[in-house]
Amino acid sequence: MNVQTELFDYFQDQPIEQIILTNDHEVSVSFLTLGATWHTFNVPTNKGDHKNLLLNFPHSADYLNNPFYVCMAIGRTGGRIKNGQFLLNDTLISVPKNEGQNTLHGGPFGFHQLIWQYTTFTDQNRVGVEFKRLIKSAEDGYPGDLTATITYTLDNSNQVTVTFTGISDQDTLFNPTSHAYFNLGNGPNILSHSLQVNSDRYLDVDVEKVPTGKYHSVANTPFDFRKSNLLDNAIKALETTKEKGIDDVFVVTPDKNQNIATLKDITSQRQITIKSSRNGLVVFTANSFTDDMPFSNSFGHPYKGIALEPQTLPDAPNHKNFGDISLNANQAKSYTIQYCYEQL
Ligand code: GAL
Repeated sequence: MNVQTELFDYFQDQPIEQIILTNDHEVSVSFLTLGATWHTFNVPTNKGDHKNLLLNFPHSADYLNNPFYVCMAIGRTGGRIKNGQFLLNDTLISVPKNEGQNTLHGGPFGFHQLIWQYTTFTDQNRVGVEFKRLIKSAEDGYPGDLTATITYTLDNSNQVTVTFTGISDQDTLFNPTSHAYFNLGNGPNILSHSLQVNSDRYLDVDVEKVPTGKYHSVANTPFDFRKSNLLDNAIKALETTKEKGIDDVFVVTPDKNQNIATLKDITSQRQITIKSSRNGLVVFTANSFTDDMPFSNSFGHPYKGIALEPQTLPDAPNHKNFGDISLNANQAKSYTIQYCYEQL
């Protein structure tokens, strides 16, 4: 196993570095200091070359030239916060808005647009990189100066583990996630992928995609992934909706020993399973990707990839029973997501 670092490019005159972790099975993952972005997930193919399972861009600037957070770290809060407002210790707090009246993915000064410091490490069973950043309240508009670390490791079971840790000098919110977009196959889109999600319910959302606090049963809907279903079937069934695909929040039951989701490309038989300790999984099938997005392998188009974002349910402070995303002063909190790759 080994770790390599190299200059990726410059963004606004600042050097952006790429950190590459490789295991003993020719699997490698790489990350950028801009946005603590998960840039590649290369796995060997039976043709003797490698396939990147993630969508990515050739230049740092491309990542920020569109509203899709491609494979970037998301924080302090994943998803939408209605009106950028919430109660914290009975005080009404407002945070900066970046999508109409609402705050999406940590607002305009979120984790994704920061350049992170990093250290790397190697131990017997894994290689890793730890990104770290002090985010002052004055910088992103959330209460408290937050020290955030995002650690990615790769082990010899082809498992990538990401751990988010936050500690703040005042009470604040912390609901980070990874916005990795996968395309496991050799085709241009994810329609030949099947998805299984351990979820009976998904969240009702308003026209701005903000949760209303109500739930829908997945039974008899295109959102029923309790048994594995082909994404082509689900997306065809949503063809006449405004979204024309999936951009929804599934309620999942955290369980250390159970996957919350399994994504498989039927043709290549490549599979990713996801474990998470949180109660939500956002599934977004890139319905609104556009042809001006200069991805490394081709331009953007709908269904080019699928984002699977494990997090505590979005807008949690504004709804009973959505989960507790508060981070109490001087008490560290950590969340872990595991992605396991298999060639079946
Ligand atoms: C998802 C969100 C989508 C879209 C996407 C990034 O989490 O549900 O509506 O904003 O992120 O563009």
